[in-house]
Amino acid sequence: MSDLGLTPDRTNTSNTDPPNPDQSLSEPLGPGSPDQSRPDADWSDRLDRAAGPDPAAAPALRWGIIGPGGIAQRFAREIPRFTASTIQAVGSRDLGRARRFADCFGVPRAHGSYQELVADPTVDAVYVASPHSEHHDHALLALRAGKPVLVEKSFALNTAQAEEVLDEARARGLFAMEAMWSRCLPHYAVLRQLVASGRLGQLRNIVAVHNQSLDLDPAGRLMNPALGGGALLDLGVYPLHLAHWLLGAPDSLQAVGLLADSGVDRAETIVLRWGQTIATAVADCAAAGRCSLAVVGSKARVDIEDWFYCPQDLILTELDGRSTVLNTKVEGGFQFEAAESARRIAAGELESPLVSWRASLEVMGLMDQVRRQLGLRFPQEGPAPA
Ligand SMILES: NC(=O)c1ccc[n+]([C@@H]2O[C@H](COP(=O)([O-])OP(=O)(O)OC[C@H]3O[C@@H](n4cnc5c(N)ncnc54)[C@H](OP(=O)(O)O)[C@@H]3O)[C@@H](O)[C@H]2O)c1
Repeated sequence: MSDLGLTPDRTNTSNTDPPNPDQSLSEPLGPGSPDQSRPDADWSDRLDRAAGPDPAAAPALRWGIIGPGGIAQRFAREIPRFTASTIQAVGSRDLGRARRFADCFGVPRAHGSYQELVADPTVDAVYVASPHSEHHDHALLALRAGKPVLVEKSFALNTAQAEEVLDEARARGLFAMEAMWSRCLPHYAVLRQLVASGRLGQLRNIVAVHNQSLDLDPAGRLMNPALGGGALLDLGVYPLHLAHWLLGAPDSLQAVGLLADSGVDRAETIVLRWGQTIATAVADCAAAGRCSLAVVGSKARVDIEDWFYCPQDLILTELDGRSTVLNTKVEGGFQFEAAESARRIAAGELESPLVSWRASLEVMGLMDQVRRQLGLRFPQEGPAPA
């Protein structure tokens, strides 16, 4: 993808082949996996290949949206702009809301219920953009109507719900993917390739911080335990997925958190360990801080100063202090997850290696562990077993 305008450091190059991107995606890297014996390759070539296929070239899908809320608006703007796919229909619990959304985004069909949306024969695939508490039911609704699903993060409230959705997808032979869009973005692909290549040396630590100063209205989605509110499922899922993207499931996890008056988690810091590598994942939904990332190896580090999970450039800094900006930033962002879904659906595949079922289940499992350590249960889960 030459349009990414990658400008890597070209010193000390050779013609060594880059690692096979598909192979490196299918398995977590593991802290000891970088191939230290591989000489520096041609970084332009390596990074171009790492950045992934052009979303505009993916097959066209007619999407239906469940839940015309905040994030659905972004999906409706970006998918027709950056891919061959279209938003064919929107479903709301209220027909007026569906119609207003449809008018605003030029969507041909508006439905006053999610049942009607999933039954619409002109809809090829369903994007579930409802609150976390509803993902399980809405994904099942779509799958049982024979529609593949792209389900907003966090995939479900807990692992049991996530497993039920994926079991249904498997049984029906339908594609399902968590809309963890960052894992489909070019800079995540390049970051993973940098780690895999050994360019950073042995991976020592990762610090991924997700601060946001959000609306803490007690009546809103974020503060409502019944809607799966709290910093973890909204924000913490990004640092956890990032760490999982690079290293897979950790050996251990320890969390410290703070609860808001409504009972949801306002903030947490999670420390994860894989052998000799440690990651710190921070989430706080009431903090005017950065959303930064440092991936630190024994020979070099990669930094993203802000909004690490959105399309960004990577800053590679080596032991001698030389920094190189890798221009991986792109416009939009949601087109990558939508295009990945379209490619897999067209190929008859049930999941994507970018956001595999295993990845979603393992990250959900990490969030279950965090909530257990914080003593936090959603009302749907009932009281803790004695
Ligand atoms: N990828 C990202 O960057 C990103 C960013 C923000 C949020 N998200 C994710 O997107 C999802 C939705 O977040 P949002 O901020 O878009 O939420 P939102 O603005 O509150 O919209 C949620 C929509 O879900 C529908 N809904 C269905 N059942 C509901 C219920 N019981 N209570 C409230 N609304 C219900 C509502 O539509 P109707 O009532 O009209 O049917 C509502 O418009 C979450 O999973 C969130 O984590 C992702």
